[in-house]
Parts: sequence; structure tokens; C-alpha cells
Amino acid sequence: MKVPRARTAPAGGNYMPASRVAEPVARFRLRRATLDDLDLLVRHRRGMWEEILEASPREYDAADRAYRRWARARMKAREIVGWIAEAEGGEAVASGCVWLMPSQPRPGWKGTVSPYLMSMYTEKADRGRGLATRITREAIRWSKARGFTVLLLHASRFGKPIYAREGFHEGNEMRLRLAERRVRRDGRPRRR
Ligand SMILES: CC(C)(COP(=O)(O)OP(=O)(O)OC[C@H]1O[C@@H](n2cnc3c(N)ncnc32)[C@H](O)[C@@H]1OP(=O)(O)O)[C@@H](O)C(=O)NCCC(=O)NCCS
Repeated sequence: MKVPRARTAPAGGNYMPASRVAEPVARFRLRRATLDDLDLLVRHRRGMWEEILEASPREYDAADRAYRRWARARMKAREIVGWIAEAEGGEAVASGCVWLMPSQPRPGWKGTVSPYLMSMYTEKADRGRGLATRITREAIRWSKARGFTVLLLHASRFGKPIYAREGFHEGNEMRLRLAERRVRRDGRPRRR
């Protein structure tokens, strides 16, 4: 897939002060993810699902394997771009990705690809420091710089206030569940 080139030089890459930490001020670097980060991206994505979706360990494991294959192919094809927030010691503590998602043509939308922000996760110990906000802003900047006119996502209850603050609003997507999920976290079927 042909990804439009940025019209401006990418920002970021420098150490940045965390936005909401009082003392001591921890410092983090935002960098682009590479294929070498796939383990981390899969782990963070798993962490995200474990907090927002009730599934069995086998389902999480299967999703990890599928995501690894899917994301590897798309990172190679430059259809996924990711950002990782690292602490000064090099420890990766937050990440998020934009997937260039195929979309149907419609008036006012350019092309048949739309950036979709996904897999946002911050390690529990480093939450509330503005890292997801920084990644969201970088995803917005990246998408705008490539001429996209919309950035899409599905929000968890944890992410919603962050995205709303950055200007995202709810659209008119509707969903019909075609199968009932009856799986508990321990993998046993729910009692009816
Ligand atoms: C959603 C998530 C990525 C936010 O990460 P983050 O780096 O803490 O985000 P930010 O610091 O930019 O914003 C944190 C906001 O969460 C809340 N928050 C603050 N401290 C927090 C803490 N210690 N723990 C959890 N949430 C906190 C606040 O609403 C805060 O906003 P505010 O302080 O500006 O009012 C993170 O909570 C997470 O990984 N959750 C589980 C997975 C998930 O839901 N991912 C998003 C999918 S759409």
C-alpha cells in the first residue's frame, strides 16, 4: 500500500518532560516502533485487552499469535506505524499504533485508506503522566502531515477522556452482536 509522504518533518525523538508528574519530573522519549519492538507491541496489546475485554487465557494467547502475524506483515508494508514511550533508562512503558485501514470511498474522504489509532497501552506504574496523550498527539500530527482528513479509533472507558480532550467525538457507528460471548476470565463458561 502506498503511504503518502509527510509534508513536514516529523517531530519527537527528544526527551520530553512528562506532563502531569509533580516531583521528581520523570522524563520520557517518544520514538517510532520498529519490527524489533514486536514483542513489546504484542505484550502491550495483550495488556490492553486484559483490561478492557473479558476473555479466556486461550483466547488472549490466540489473539497474541494472530496479532503478531498481522502486525508484522503490516509493519513491513508500512501500513502500521507505532510509537513507544521510553523512560530515560530505555525501559518502554507505553505504546500505540496507527493502522492504515482500508475504507470505502465517500464524499469528503480522500482515498480508500483511513488512519486508525489502536493498541494504546501504558504500563500501570506510569499512568497519568501524559504518555498516552503524547502518543495520541503524535498520531494526530503524523496523520495530518500525510494529508489524511480523519483519524478513527474505538475507545475503551480508560481512553475515552483522553481522546475527547484531544478533540475526538463519537460518530454514528452501530453494532449488532451476532453471537453472544459467554466466556469468563478463567475460561469457564458463564452460568445462564
Ligand atoms: C488508556 C491508557 C492508555 C491511558 O494511558 P496514560 O499514559 O495513563 O494516559 P495519560 O497520562 O495521557 O492520561 C491519563 C488520564 O487517565 C486518568 N489517570 C490519571 N492517573 C491515572 C492513573 N494513575 N491510572 C490510571 N488512569 C489515570 C486521568 O483521566 C488522566 O487524565 P488527566 O489526569 O489529564 O485528567 C491507560 O490507562 C491504559 O493502558 N489502559 C488500559 C488499556 C486501554 O484502555 N487502552 C486504550 C484503548 S482505547
